[in-house]
Parts: sequence; structure tokens; C-alpha cells
Amino acid sequence: MPNKKVIAILASGSGSNAEVLVRKAQSLELGFAGIFCDQKNAVVFERAKKLGVPCHLIEALPQEKRVDYDKRLLALLTQHKVDWVFLAGFMRLLSPHFLRAFYDQHLKKSRVVNIHPSLLPAFPGKSGYEDAFTHGVKVSGVTVHFVDEGLDSGPIIAQKSFPRLPGDDLQSFKRRGLNLEHDLYPQVMAELLGGSEC
Ligand code: GRF
Repeated sequence: MPNKKVIAILASGSGSNAEVLVRKAQSLELGFAGIFCDQKNAVVFERAKKLGVPCHLIEALPQEKRVDYDKRLLALLTQHKVDWVFLAGFMRLLSPHFLRAFYDQHLKKSRVVNIHPSLLPAFPGKSGYEDAFTHGVKVSGVTVHFVDEGLDSGPIIAQKSFPRLPGDDLQSFKRRGLNLEHDLYPQVMAELLGGSEC
């Protein structure tokens, strides 16, 4: 395919979103540089193994500054000629230096996308489901957004909502949300890259 775009997925944990993105990337026949993970014991390594795709470990060094970590990560992604980065439970904030490297003049945004487990701008941060649930929301949701320099503050691409049902505990609430994430994130990837001149 001419002009085949190459994606990378960054993950830190279970990797359930990474898995659905890998499957979608395969079905769209996108170029795939692999999963890049900063946590050596993350479950995503097992998923990658089952999927038969590479999962690269890139751990932070002791006392390493964020920008220095990002430079190493960027060097790896550049080596793999990555065009688009999808964050799937990646628990690090990316520096302006990293984001600038993926800045797209046409989009006027960086080609770095994240999924967040709340209806942003409500409940940014690392515990979206927990915070929404504890707050007693009647409706919550998930958000796919472009990544900017802030915390879960970039332009929103798509959202899906789900109800909190009577009798929900945090686990069932989270499960409902995660199922939605698994529908929405690959769908957005297909919309952004399916046409493929992006
Ligand atoms: C998801 O809820 C995602 O929205 C959030 O972190 C979680 C990652 O889950 N950013 P998984 O590793 O994809 O299973």
C-alpha cells in the first residue's frame, strides 16, 4: 500500500486497549511498529506474545528527567518511522519535546491520541472510573482525545457515555466503561487512519 502509515501503541498495564488496537491495525493493514511499555511486569507483554506482535520495554532510569526519557522513547519511535502514537493506559505525561516531534501542520495537532475513562473534561487524571464512581455520577463515559501538554486536556475526538445502574459496584461500573473503550478506540483509529493519506 503506498503511503502506509505506521502506528505505535504505548502502554503501562493490562493492555486490553492495546490488544483491540493491534487487531484493528491488522485489519486496516496499517504499518505497526509495536507496543512500547515502561513497566517490565505489565500484563501487556503476555497479550503481545499471544498476538504475536513485538512489545518493547522502555523503562525510566533512576532519577531520569521526563524529557530525557521522552527523548529515548522518541529515538526508538523515529527508528521505527512511526507516524501516529496511540496511548493505551500509558501512565506517563509526555513532554512538549515529544509532542512537537509528532506535530502535524495540517491537523494543527500532534498525532498522539489517548483514551481516558471519563467524560472529559470531568475527572481527568489517573483514576477516572474511581473518581466518577465516588462522586456518584448517574452517567459516565469514555473519551478519545488528542494529547496536548496538559493532563487529559487535549481536543476531544469522540466520546461515549454509559449509565451507572442501580446495584453497580466500582467493578461492574468499570467493566461497562472498559467495554465501551474497546468499541470506541479502534473505531476512532479507523476514522483517523482508515483513509490513510492522514
Ligand atoms: C483504561 O481504562 C484507559 O482508559 C486508561 O487506563 C486504562 C488502561 O486499561 N487510560 P488497559 O491497560 O487498556 O486494559
